[in-house]
Amino acid sequence: MTTHTKTTAARPAAHGGVRTWFITGATSGIGLALARAAAERGDNVAALARRTDALAPLTETHGPRVLALAADVRSAEDLRTAVTTTLQAFGRIDVVANNAGYGLFGAVEESTDAQARDIFDTNVFGVLNVLRATLPVLRAQGGGHILQGSSYYGQTAHPGVGLLAATKYAVEGLTDALVGELAPLGVKVTVVEPGPTATAFLSNLDVADTLTDYDPTVRAIQKSIGELPASAFNSADRVATAVLAAVDADRPPLRLATGTTAVTEIRAALDARLAELDAWEAVSTAVDTPTTQSDQA
Ligand SMILES: NC(=O)c1ccc[n+]([C@@H]2O[C@H](COP(=O)([O-])OP(=O)(O)OC[C@H]3O[C@@H](n4cnc5c(N)ncnc54)[C@H](OP(=O)(O)O)[C@@H]3O)[C@@H](O)[C@H]2O)c1
Repeated sequence: MTTHTKTTAARPAAHGGVRTWFITGATSGIGLALARAAAERGDNVAALARRTDALAPLTETHGPRVLALAADVRSAEDLRTAVTTTLQAFGRIDVVANNAGYGLFGAVEESTDAQARDIFDTNVFGVLNVLRATLPVLRAQGGGHILQGSSYYGQTAHPGVGLLAATKYAVEGLTDALVGELAPLGVKVTVVEPGPTATAFLSNLDVADTLTDYDPTVRAIQKSIGELPASAFNSADRVATAVLAAVDADRPPLRLATGTTAVTEIRAALDARLAELDAWEAVSTAVDTPTTQSDQA
């Protein structure tokens, strides 16, 4: 017997079926596509950006449905103010898209301490700042949906993306705990794991200084990424469509990969991890044998 996951639930009847979204990094790429898609279906959008002038195309098209708010996700104060302003305008927050982020390319050893700390400040501590600012609202409402911005690099990595992947793995780990903490409070959580997507991500990439020992690995991969055809990158609008399907679902997924590359790479990583767990199971479980006096000596 086959079972089907229902992904096309009716929109919530409460609040006239209109949701209020709180989206970080709404100036560009996936955040902009999500803001546009939500506004186009008649939802309210609090669109957050470091430079609100970059939100003009959104506000000009969608008028009062889109609230342009200045916020750097590294600032807890900016986010608290943005939440207050959103509540004054729309009265509630239904979907939080923890989307803002950027990449760092280079071998783990090549990336400086400052580069590593900077990317964690935005991609991890920024995510935490957003959660701390918005969760009191969602808990008080007894409902809402958190979308955590990860990547297929939250499940797998290759040479050159170690620090970027470390930030996304951090988001995935904290979200695995968060989902159980929030479920009894009526708040849903979905980790979004895009594959390569046609956004400003690559032009906003931080790049580490190079050590020649990493030319055969890191630089070779950098070259192959640079040579990818445009067709290797999914459209941000299609990613937004997938995210809307997850938000509309009766039972949203905990993880949503977008694009064939993400699905393929994540499946390969999970298969390999499971195969290795199996191959080493005897050694792993031999640790369970009762402790003897000689072990304690
Ligand atoms: N594109 C991909 O291939 C891909 C794949 C997997 C995951 N992702 C993830 O998707 C998310 C969105 O990236 P994107 O691809 O849409 O890239 P993008 O076009 O470069 O957009 C990134 C957005 O994040 C904002 N941002 C960066 N740092 C910020 C900060 N400190 N405070 C507030 N906003 C900040 C940027 O704002 P400014 O305009 O102010 O710079 C921009 O709006 C990221 O978390 C990224 O890791 C992307």
